[in-house]
Order: sequence, then structure tokens, then C-alpha cells
Amino acid sequence: MEVRPKRLAPRGTQDVLPPESAKGQYVEATFRRTCACYQYGEIRTPMFEETELFSRAAGETTDIVTKEMYTFTDRGGRSLTLRPEGTPSVVRAFIEHKLYGEPDAHKYYYVAPIFRYERPQAGRYRQHHQLGVECLGPAGPDADAEVIALACDFLGTLPLTGASLQISSLGCPECRPTYRERLQEFIRPRLAELCEYCQGRFEVNPLRILDDKNPRCQELTQGAPSPLDTLCGACREHHERLLALLAEAGIPYRENPRIVRGLDYYTRTVFEVIHGELGAQNTLVGGGRYDLLVEELGGPPTPAVGFGSGLERILLVLEAQGWSPPPPTPPVYVAVAQGAGDAGWLLAERLRRAGLAAQVDLLHRSLKAQMKEADRLGSRYVLIVGEQEVAAGEATLRDMQTGEQRPLPLEGAAELMAGLVGEKGQAES
Ligand code: HAM
Repeated sequence: MEVRPKRLAPRGTQDVLPPESAKGQYVEATFRRTCACYQYGEIRTPMFEETELFSRAAGETTDIVTKEMYTFTDRGGRSLTLRPEGTPSVVRAFIEHKLYGEPDAHKYYYVAPIFRYERPQAGRYRQHHQLGVECLGPAGPDADAEVIALACDFLGTLPLTGASLQISSLGCPECRPTYRERLQEFIRPRLAELCEYCQGRFEVNPLRILDDKNPRCQELTQGAPSPLDTLCGACREHHERLLALLAEAGIPYRENPRIVRGLDYYTRTVFEVIHGELGAQNTLVGGGRYDLLVEELGGPPTPAVGFGSGLERILLVLEAQGWSPPPPTPPVYVAVAQGAGDAGWLLAERLRRAGLAAQVDLLHRSLKAQMKEADRLGSRYVLIVGEQEVAAGEATLRDMQTGEQRPLPLEGAAELMAGLVGEKGQAES
């Protein structure tokens, strides 16, 4: 009879079950290793914060703030919001713990669940996970280059091909207004033809019009002025130095002046890593410089740069490219015959304490069924524990590869097995 689940995971969320969860673990471990090479330390912040932190950081008129936040009032009457991105929390912690005390490059990374009330589709979820970094303190383009290099190095270490890095600069408070005006001038004659959403953005945030997915709006904004043409001298120099550094480091990129990003805090550099495999949700990594945010949130002026990458999207690409993680080491299997009492269970326990992966049957199945299970798990070694063996203080060690069997004293069995597995390797075939 089919059992129909009464309760389902909330829309736009997913359960990750073993062995699938090994895929995410692999990507996460790769990210952590890359961060260690670049000397970024892990920061863990709460999953929720005061609502105002996120609305001030992202910008009151952004989609994230107006439509996508999971906001609730707690029992003390405070308005709290589930983290819709990682950057504001890192900045809040940086200010709260006065980490700005010493002039330094403060380099943090995070692996964090992120919550956005978006319309779910492939690659877009209401809970996703970001692997992100933030570098606070340095103002120079070498910090931007380091953060971008870290992202590319991370993706490059994964068996993932076809990702492309795109870069632009949105300028600073000096030169951005000129660009804004130029863009408005360009859009004004076309305004009536744009969608309602874009019309609403015209005064508030015209840059976002460039990011609209509506094909008609995209067509109408073809040929829009580039922010790169109105950069002030300092922003231009920053941008050119960054491109030169990337070229020197052999990191391929494409300038794409249509990158606007969905958050208002960016200054100067913005970048994305996109992938053709992903359809509409094609951004694997999004980031940039945010030199004014720390001050905006109450800290001393502190330039900063960072990125966030979507774990689920990376996994979608890897899966589409036919990747699966290296298989785990098969366990030593302890097969227990009836009448052996607790000896089998205890032996497995000793093997684990000696650092070995060990499996013992908890369902009290027949010896035949247990041997089949050992085979299914790919175990090279099976320790058979029967009534007579226990009486003799022994187990039978079976090498599943050669079919050889020999007695093994229970006393010291764990150490012997550790030596054997270490020597030959469980995965060896
Ligand atoms: P973001 O572009 O909004 O930037 O998100 C970063 C990445 O998270 C995206 O490129 C995408 O891979 C993934 N992502 C975003 N939304 C979803 C979703 N609904 N479902 C699945 N994946 C998603 C930020 O959040 C900035 N805080 C990044 C940053 C850090 N900028 C500077 N420092």
C-alpha cells in the first residue's frame, strides 16, 4: 500500500538525504580548503537578525527588501528577519566586535543558509546555501583581484567546466550620478513602452531596469550607455588595475557593463560568474566592492569587497556535467550469527573507536542476508562472529576480494584490522 506523506517540506525548500548529501559536503570542503589557502577564517553569525539591518544594507527599494524577506515579530515584539544574504551580518559582527581596531585585511568566509521568498524554479529556492567571502579593510584593486581569484580557484578546483567571469564597475558617489542621468536620458523616450515594473524603477533606481528579464525591456535597453564610460579618474584607475592584475594572473574575464546586481550597496567593482547550463538562473557567483556599507551600518569608514556563490546552483552544474563525488571508503562489515550475543556489536564498536568505518546489522537478519549487504556496501573485509567463534575468543575474517578466510582473535582485532585496512585500503579492488 502506498503511504502518502501528510506533510511536505515547505515550497522552495528541499531535504538533502544521504548519499546525495555527500555532493554538497564535497563542494563545501573544496571551498573551505580554498579559503584556507587564501587565509580567510570562518565566521558564523545568527540565522536571523534585526530586520532593519537587512533593509538598510540591501536598500529599501530592492526586490530582496520589498518582496523577499522572511520577516516575523518575536515574542518580545522585535521585528526579525531570516538572513536573505550574508554580507550585512558579517558587517554587523565586524562593527559589534570592533574588529576594525587594527589596520588589517579582515578576511572572513561563511557557509550559510539564506532565505528569500522568491518564485521557486530550477536553481531558485526559498532556502539556498551560500559559500561566501568578505574582505574588509583594503581599498585597492588587489583585494578585488584576490576575492575574484579565490572564487575562480574554488570553481576551478571542482570538476566544473564552462563558467565565465564577467566584470564591470558601477563607479562611486562622485561619478554614479552622471551615469544615472545619462541612463535616464537614454530610457526616457522609451519609458512608455517598458513594463510597469521598469517604469516604477525609472526614478528610484534606473540601473535596475538593465537587469529586467522581460525580453521587450531587454530589447528596448539594447545600446544603453555603459557605466564604464562615465567613471571618474580614480574609479577608472581602480578598474584598469584590477583588469591588469587578472590578466597577469591568467584569469580570463569579460567586461559586461550590464551587470547591475540586485543589491544597492555596491561601489566600483561588480562581478558575476555565470554558467550556460543553468538557464534563467545562470549566476553561480555574484559579488563586488561595497566601500560605504560599514559606515552606513554605523562603523568607521571601511572599504570592503566580497562574493556569495550558490551551493545548489554549483551542484546543478556538476550534476548536469555527470559528476559524482569520490565514493566513501566501504566499511568493515561485522556479520553476526544467531547465538553470538553482543560480541558482534561490541566488535564493531571497537573497530570504530580505532578509527575504522564499521557496519553491523541492527535488524538481526540471517547471515546470508548480512553477507549480501556487505557485498552491496563494497566491503572488502567481513568479520563473521558466530557462537563457536565467540566461545573460542575469535572471529572469522573473510577477504571478499580473494574469498580467503582465517580466524582472528577478538582480543586486539580492532588494531589488527586498522593495520590491515591501512596497508591494503578498503577501497582497493
Ligand atoms: P546575490 O547575487 O544575491 O549576492 O547571491 C549570491 C549567489 O547566491 C547568486 O549568485 C546565486 O548563485 C545564489 N542565489 C541567490 N539567490 C538564490 C536562490 N533563490 N536560490 C538559489 N541560489 C541563489 C549576495 O547575496 C551578496 N551578499 C554577495 C556578496 C557578498 N557581495 C559582496 N559580498
